[in-house]
Amino acid sequence: MILVIDFGGQYNQLIARRVRDMHVYCEVVSYEKALEAAKEKKPGGIIFTGGPNSVYEKNAPKIDEKIFDLGIPILGLCYGMQIMAHELGGKVTSANSKEFGKTKTYVENSSKLFEGLKKEEFVWMSHVDYVEEMPKGFKKVASTDNTPNAAMENVERNLYAMQYHPEVNHTENGFKMLENFVYGICKEKPEWTMSNYAKEKINEIKEKVGDGKVLLALSGGVDSSVTAKLLSKALGDKLTCIFVDHGLMRKNEGDQVEAAFKDSGMHFIRVNAEERFLKKLKGITDPEEKRKAIGEEFIRVFEEEGRKIKSVDYLAQGTIYPDIIESGAGNAAVIKSHHNVGGLPEAVDFKEIIEPLRLLFKDEVRELGRELGLADYLVDRQPFPGPGLGIRVIGELTKEKLDILRDADFIFRQELEKSGIEKLPDQYFAVLTNNRSVGVMGDFRTYDYTLALRAVQTTDFMTADWYRIPFELLDKISNRIVNEVGHINRIVYDITSKPPATIEWE
Ligand code: XMP
Repeated sequence: MILVIDFGGQYNQLIARRVRDMHVYCEVVSYEKALEAAKEKKPGGIIFTGGPNSVYEKNAPKIDEKIFDLGIPILGLCYGMQIMAHELGGKVTSANSKEFGKTKTYVENSSKLFEGLKKEEFVWMSHVDYVEEMPKGFKKVASTDNTPNAAMENVERNLYAMQYHPEVNHTENGFKMLENFVYGICKEKPEWTMSNYAKEKINEIKEKVGDGKVLLALSGGVDSSVTAKLLSKALGDKLTCIFVDHGLMRKNEGDQVEAAFKDSGMHFIRVNAEERFLKKLKGITDPEEKRKAIGEEFIRVFEEEGRKIKSVDYLAQGTIYPDIIESGAGNAAVIKSHHNVGGLPEAVDFKEIIEPLRLLFKDEVRELGRELGLADYLVDRQPFPGPGLGIRVIGELTKEKLDILRDADFIFRQELEKSGIEKLPDQYFAVLTNNRSVGVMGDFRTYDYTLALRAVQTTDFMTADWYRIPFELLDKISNRIVNEVGHINRIVYDITSKPPATIEWE
């Protein structure tokens, strides 16, 4: 395995993701537990992530120097490079200006890190500090016009570092550089597969649960569907799934979820709770408050239903790795409170919680779903946030606004899907903004909502690029929506990537 040491950067799980893509198992731990984890898990290699701090700040994350003496290969990235340099006696300096974006870099391709690469590479930089003087024993292996030491190595001590981010797509041969570290330097083998994972998990769950009863909150999204499938394979009718229909689903979606799971062998319960949710959400406009209110109400409903099932032994959740990290369990800043984390455990009396996807990334979850024989339309479903359309209607929620959005969103998706585009965007949806503007329809003035269309291309949903929908198609979609859906008189297309935007608007 490879151990990723988290210094609080936003790309941390992406690094783990890249390593998993190489079929090498990988875990992320906080810098505070770095030495302990390295000793206990005995990884084949360690990667230090980036982070927002400066090594000289009083509360900047530190690393126990003993980690450098374990003989395990270490690769420091960005802040990870700076902390390595700082701890080992080098000098880290703050540059006058930030180096940000795609940057031409001159690399020593005799270094094992750059094996098979050209002498000039484009890499993604995002830093203010840089290593001005390398520690003793280190050799410079890459530089840019502004950063003299863009990568360094001490081959004898098995220590390597890069100032830039090889884990993001913008570093053109970044994956190759990481492969050079993982396969070439750490000598890891590509042996971690989803088919092994499925077998292991099914046995593990069977053994653990025995004759007990398991309860799962099923949303019909990819994560909870795969969890349900995995659990039903292991447990059959010892599993009960509760589907809380909060009224924030897309058009017809509640019925589709019901149809998909009703006859699957498990106990399936659908709760129609639209009115309750709308009442609870009345007057709330702040995105975080909305997310929290939806999460809380969800728990209340689930709790009431759960209590009807006597003596639940285990509660299962479709929590996946990014949910945990993006909600601030790691050191990364909280960007959005994810709806599916926390809360539920207190909602029902149970012995223990089961989260079989806890360490998986989204695309691994899909791969697992396919491995388990889950239907393509469930596995390939675009992600749909737990709070549903609640975070796609900006500002206060009303049934009227939700219905407008549902109809517009349906047309947008339908037109894209029947357009014959070779590869559809990975996620596409409409957002009802709370902006109203003046328009003219027939001979009349209108004062109606602005609808935004969002479509992105991404592999991991941690970074994303906006999707280039052909103008003719946008034109057709726009025409259909304004003609067929009332109260929308203006349509805009979101052309921001993530970062700096996020995929959802709230
Ligand atoms: P953002 O907006 O953070 O979204 O760029 C990244 C991906 O996560 C989805 N998303 C959620 N999924 N519960 C979820 O299960 C949530 O609360 C949630 N919020 C956002 C979003 O649709 C995108 O695919």
